[in-house]
Amino acid sequence: MNFRVKCCGLQFENPLVLASGYLGVTGASLANVAKNGAGGVTSKTLFMEERAGYPNPTSLTFPGGLINAMGLSGEGIRNAKAEFETYRNLAPDCPILGSVGGKTLKELVECAEIMDTYPVDLIELNLSCPSGADEKELPFSCDPDITAKITRAVRKVTRKPISVKLSPKAYRIGEIAQRAEAEGADAITAVNGMGPGMLIDIRMRAPSLGNKVGDVSGQALKPIALGCVYEIYEHVKIPIIGTGGIVNGNDAIEMLMAGATLLGIGSAIAYYDLKAFAMIQEKIKRFMEEEGFKDISDLVGIAHKR
Ligand SMILES: Cc1cc2nc3c(=O)[nH]c(=O)nc-3n(C[C@H](O)[C@H](O)[C@H](O)COP(=O)(O)O)c2cc1C
Repeated sequence: MNFRVKCCGLQFENPLVLASGYLGVTGASLANVAKNGAGGVTSKTLFMEERAGYPNPTSLTFPGGLINAMGLSGEGIRNAKAEFETYRNLAPDCPILGSVGGKTLKELVECAEIMDTYPVDLIELNLSCPSGADEKELPFSCDPDITAKITRAVRKVTRKPISVKLSPKAYRIGEIAQRAEAEGADAITAVNGMGPGMLIDIRMRAPSLGNKVGDVSGQALKPIALGCVYEIYEHVKIPIIGTGGIVNGNDAIEMLMAGATLLGIGSAIAYYDLKAFAMIQEKIKRFMEEEGFKDISDLVGIAHKR
């Protein structure tokens, strides 16, 4: 049975890729994820400047998933080079996607230019976090023209493969993905969290998150993410990194059938720790055996054939 995936010219031992952000950006922690069975890893989104992020709590679980408002915290991209080098030494054969963000087109392009010089295999353009000063502004990827403009600008500064990460808040996400493809994107990552959402602490009589509102991920996001990936698959030829609510084998298989070539894993780690990678792989393999699939690629997009 073939479980390997070739995507954007890169070889992944299996289709499961750590989604951006969930486990930070240190090279050692990302390499530990690779050691625990991920086929690839994505760094946390890096911006030009260092950011403190929002007050705690920044991430909470609830019965249907997770809600987070990190506030784009992290070291600036210029301080992160050593972490990518550490990763490369510790996990030379497991592809790493370097995620970049920006409050402006200029910042995004500058970050991509810097990421291009780092030992990453693919640059993920995070166009799916809020573009303005707070969570209430729409992400860049909700606007097809802005998505096209940023993709075009980044395409000019790197020869590495680019994946454009989209937001589920977008209207007509398939057409947005198509615009990114037309401007030279090599893949689409779909999707980031959905929101703004809220939890309320009834004893405190106040919103639970430090930032009050945040993005929902995990199980609650799954049907939305699947719908987005299904729609995108009908609009583009480039591969999709299907992300959102994959917490078990069944979710993973649904995402493949909707059209994803690779599968982003984030919130599942909150429930199953790094064992999530081995557990999900085992379930996909068992399904393939039971149903007579010889190659993982045979599952991709088959929900469209009926
Ligand atoms: C705590 C946390 C931090 C995240 N940080 C980032 C980030 O830095 N960049 C990004 O593109 N997505 C970020 N995400 C979104 C995830 O990469 C992913 O798109 C989303 O959580 C949906 O996948 P999931 O349901 O498997 O978690 C973050 C999600 C969580 C829960």
